[in-house]
Amino acid sequence: MSEVAIAPVKVATRQLYLDLMQRCLLGLIYRDPPQDKWSGDSFDINKRMLGRDWPSQAHSMIGKLRMDNLRSAVEYAIVNAIPGDFIETGVWRGGACILVRAVFAAYGVTDRIVWCADSFEGLPAPDAEKYPADSGDKFHTYPQLVISLEEVRENFERYGLLDAQVRFVKGWFKDTLPAAPIDKLAVLRLDGDMYESTMDALRALYSKVSPGGVVIIDDYGVVPGCRKAVHDFRDANGIGDVIRNVDNAGVWWIKSK
Ligand SMILES: C[S@@+](CC[C@H](N)C(=O)[O-])C[C@H]1O[C@@H](n2cnc3c(N)ncnc32)[C@H](O)[C@@H]1O
Repeated sequence: MSEVAIAPVKVATRQLYLDLMQRCLLGLIYRDPPQDKWSGDSFDINKRMLGRDWPSQAHSMIGKLRMDNLRSAVEYAIVNAIPGDFIETGVWRGGACILVRAVFAAYGVTDRIVWCADSFEGLPAPDAEKYPADSGDKFHTYPQLVISLEEVRENFERYGLLDAQVRFVKGWFKDTLPAAPIDKLAVLRLDGDMYESTMDALRALYSKVSPGGVVIIDDYGVVPGCRKAVHDFRDANGIGDVIRNVDNAGVWWIKSK
């Protein structure tokens, strides 16, 4: 039998898998058009890179740069043995959480959970009396933001990634997060858009982030109420860790204490 020359694999298979996952989750393969009313009718790579449109089919709206940031944060936590799980508060179709389950699979991580917290009914109407920064907020009126738990489960299944390492926390953050059975977090990703949603998540979960863990805020640069909640919480708790930008919207920091 003659020998077959096989070219050496230049890029690690793990990297190829995760790159392909990101392209699928963001709709970069079939270039699905946006469904929002401000982005026009056709796919625009610049908008999708920055997460500025709401995809019609793709499973995440966070854009390529923020998804790269999420992947790096989770890989950093694994490589540096930062203890704890991952949670996203505000999952929509589940794309960011699906990516994290894929990272765990690619690294053979079997002892960390992906927690997916959402109402699975869209955003709450603003409580302007309690949270004036949310007054006039219209996100709760958008049917595009209402994605059921069944749909998110099915999306995980389509990638072959729905298993016991994925857990769902259904309900309003103020009701569910304080009692969620989460011990430690290596990466906390907030994507609930509003002041209330951001503050409820920080109050319930920040103390569970391990030292050296990563905190990511998706909407910091584009939703003033979200940014205010972050600063109110940091000021109240004496948090001075340097905030770093991902793109025009997302920021992250490493928890030092
Ligand atoms: C912008 S979407 C999240 C996008 C998602 N991370 C992705 O990868 O595309 C915001 C989500 O947060 C949820 N949400 C916002 N505030 C909430 C709250 N207070 N309680 C429960 N869910 C909330 C909404 O239902 C919605 O699914």
